[in-house]
Amino acid sequence: MQREQWNSRTGFILAAVGSAIGLGNIWRFPYMAYENGGGAFFIPYLFAMLTAGIPFMIMEFSLGHKHRGAAPRVFAKLGESLGFKLEWLGWFQVFIAAVIAIYYVAIIGWAISYFVFSITQSWGTDTNSFFFNEYLQLGDNSPTKLGSLQFHIAIPMAIAWGITSLAVFSGVKGGIERASKIMMPLLFIMVLLLIGRIVLLPGALDGLNYLFRPDFSMILDVKVWSAAYGQIFFTLSVGFAIMLAYSSYLPEKSDINNNAFMTVLINCGFSILGGIMIFAVLGYMAAEQAKPITDVVTSGVGLAFVTIPAAINLLPLPYILGPLFFLALVVAGISSHISIIEAVVAAVIDKLAISRKKAALMVCGTGFTVSMAFSSNGGLLLLDLVDYFINNIALLTSCLIELIILTWLFKIADIRDYANQCSEFSVGKWFNLCLRFIGPIMLAIILIKNLINTLRNGYEDYPIADQIFLGWGLIALMLFAAIFISLVSRDPNKKPAR
Ligand code: PHE
Ligand code: NA
Repeated sequence: MQREQWNSRTGFILAAVGSAIGLGNIWRFPYMAYENGGGAFFIPYLFAMLTAGIPFMIMEFSLGHKHRGAAPRVFAKLGESLGFKLEWLGWFQVFIAAVIAIYYVAIIGWAISYFVFSITQSWGTDTNSFFFNEYLQLGDNSPTKLGSLQFHIAIPMAIAWGITSLAVFSGVKGGIERASKIMMPLLFIMVLLLIGRIVLLPGALDGLNYLFRPDFSMILDVKVWSAAYGQIFFTLSVGFAIMLAYSSYLPEKSDINNNAFMTVLINCGFSILGGIMIFAVLGYMAAEQAKPITDVVTSGVGLAFVTIPAAINLLPLPYILGPLFFLALVVAGISSHISIIEAVVAAVIDKLAISRKKAALMVCGTGFTVSMAFSSNGGLLLLDLVDYFINNIALLTSCLIELIILTWLFKIADIRDYANQCSEFSVGKWFNLCLRFIGPIMLAIILIKNLINTLRNGYEDYPIADQIFLGWGLIALMLFAAIFISLVSRDPNKKPAR
């Protein structure tokens, strides 16, 4: 059977950008930049983008394009030419994607709820208590003591699953590409409208000054560099099966280098827009409340669901700017969610040789069911714990292994030649240098630091048993299942051995 293909180059880029631009650009990046030296963070960030982001993207696009398969098949083929099994690495990445998919959708669900609240203005003045007590109903739950299913959270999550499954179900061209062509332009317009209005508010420019004012004293801090590299892999969705699946649908004649540069630059440019939007709002809020800006900045979920609603309360036209902000968050989130699910669906199609529709129903049905755990009272805590271990341990491990295998066991020059041969402009020797040395060294430093840190101190104050079970245990289970699948089965699309 002929593999599905993207209809146009723009369609592919919009889909890849749709995957890359996500919740991470709107609330993770601004806070990371602020916390790690403000304007000075751009130096490590741009360095990480050039030395890790762009080369890694070129490498993944080349592999997907060349081997025409989702992650397990790509790695199985690579393993074959080395003489050992490598399919497990592909499945490990697919499992990472699957786990992310089931909690990422919870945040999209919250954003859908908040879109509605921003119209009805039902979050009141104490947005902190509203989010944690009234909306999440956190109570005294824990990551393993979840309480009960909350329908007011489950329903928006189901809506998000509905849109994602429709896109994936309808195929590469008719679903994913079409959705991206609507969503991405819409997202850019919304964010530009928001920025256009917010930047004119009193205090907004102080917020931007705060974000962009460089603190060069931090530039020698390993922590800052590790934050920059971690953010680059997360924000570009590389290293966990997604870009491999998307590039496996590229037509034969495709420009790899150009597509990779565009995807990375558009994503990173959008992050800066996200930073401008968030910090302009925070600057305005600080000015309104006559507080220093450091008093209003918060991190993670608190930023999007506590601080921003409080800021929206103070805005002129809250009925317009509020819904616009949360709709932007929903659109950014869903286009990423589609890509994560597609990474899993593509792997299932390759492996079981079943139709896309069947695979999509199977994956989305299972995903929906499991994700309901995150709509419970303890959902946020479960999400926080799993997210930490997945991002800081599993994802970096997978990126590091992929990088080492591809650049040390294969001739990296071959990958560069392949990419250059397909592309209008060529990448130089810096590509080899980045992928063989700079990338693995930086990743290894960050990963070892995270491992030591987590083994020694754990993550936050979650009960040790929960961390062993849901953190380390989950990763071990994913690794074990991946190895198991790759040992007991064969690729049905491969010619049977004689
Ligand atoms: N790149 C996305 C972002 O910045 C993150 C992401 C995409 C996470 C896909 C998981 C899956 O938000
Ligand atoms: Na991103």
